[in-house]
Amino acid sequence: MKENMREKLLEIKEIALSSINEVAGLDEIEQLRVKFLGKKGELTSVLRDMGKLIAEERPIVGQIANEVRDELEDAISSMKEKLTEEMKKTKMSKEKIDITMSTNKEKLGHRHPLLATIEELEDLFISMGFSVVTGPEIETVENNFDALNSPENHPSRDLSDTFYITEDILLRTQTSPVQIRAMKEMGAPLRIVSAGRTFRFDDVDDTHSPMFHQLEGLVVDENITMANLIHTIDVFIKELFGKDMETRFRPHYFPFTEPSGEVDVTCFKCMGKGCDSCNGTGWSMELLGCGMVHPKVLENCGIDPEKYSGFAFGMGIDRITMVKYGITDIRLLFENDNRFLEQF
Ligand code: DAH
Repeated sequence: MKENMREKLLEIKEIALSSINEVAGLDEIEQLRVKFLGKKGELTSVLRDMGKLIAEERPIVGQIANEVRDELEDAISSMKEKLTEEMKKTKMSKEKIDITMSTNKEKLGHRHPLLATIEELEDLFISMGFSVVTGPEIETVENNFDALNSPENHPSRDLSDTFYITEDILLRTQTSPVQIRAMKEMGAPLRIVSAGRTFRFDDVDDTHSPMFHQLEGLVVDENITMANLIHTIDVFIKELFGKDMETRFRPHYFPFTEPSGEVDVTCFKCMGKGCDSCNGTGWSMELLGCGMVHPKVLENCGIDPEKYSGFAFGMGIDRITMVKYGITDIRLLFENDNRFLEQF
């Protein structure tokens, strides 16, 4: 009897161990536990027969049974651990996330209000037959002042107004030198606009910045008159700001044009009725400067003033952008604060 039971126990152990080694999942291992070690399991039923043994045999068989149970319990729990570990690994590899990946949804940027204004103006002038050209921000004194007929003693030449790099090189104070470059390179006839950065020795406040933007226009051809200038300005102001905008020309002085004028437009705020921001005049002042190209300037660029005439104009784009978008402080345009820029 004792031998029988011993064999039976060892046989159960063999079968159980080899089944445990072959299991593929946690469910199966639990089923095996119930099958061999559970209340109605095979080992338990053998133990139940212990009562049939004689007293001396019981402890011996009992010890074997305990050892078998311990061994099976160990095998089951280490198999459980192994399977849990494997499951964890597959789960982790399936759910792997790249923590370096940006969680930000793609944000689409948009044009800076200044650039939007420049492009709108360029498109407008292109539609009127102008070409868009560019010029350098670092210019010669020759192009920025001399060829533009600026007198030697003109205050804008002063060190306190202009950023000089050397005696002959400066940061352009206006986009007008592009006129010189264009006329020298292309000759007449010619119809160009040119926008870009300009620099003056200004202290920063809500309407001044040492770096600002201008757009320059120049037309040279035969039979160009003041009427062409006035019409062109009037059309572009109405296209840009609306049909109700009126333009007004006031005489002014610029060295490179003769006659020269400044243009005022209907006050943007009160539309001409008169308000605080236009001092009751109904006009927004000095939106641009303009005039008929001085014969000396044409000559300086190798164009015959007897045959050709021309008109030119220049405007501050920052001011136009501020008016267009209702911006009251020029500094906001250059601070690049997204909270501001996202509004446009
Ligand atoms: N360059 C001038 C300025 O900065 C603006 C200007 C006035 C440009 C008259 C022109 C012009 O072309 O004809 O104030």
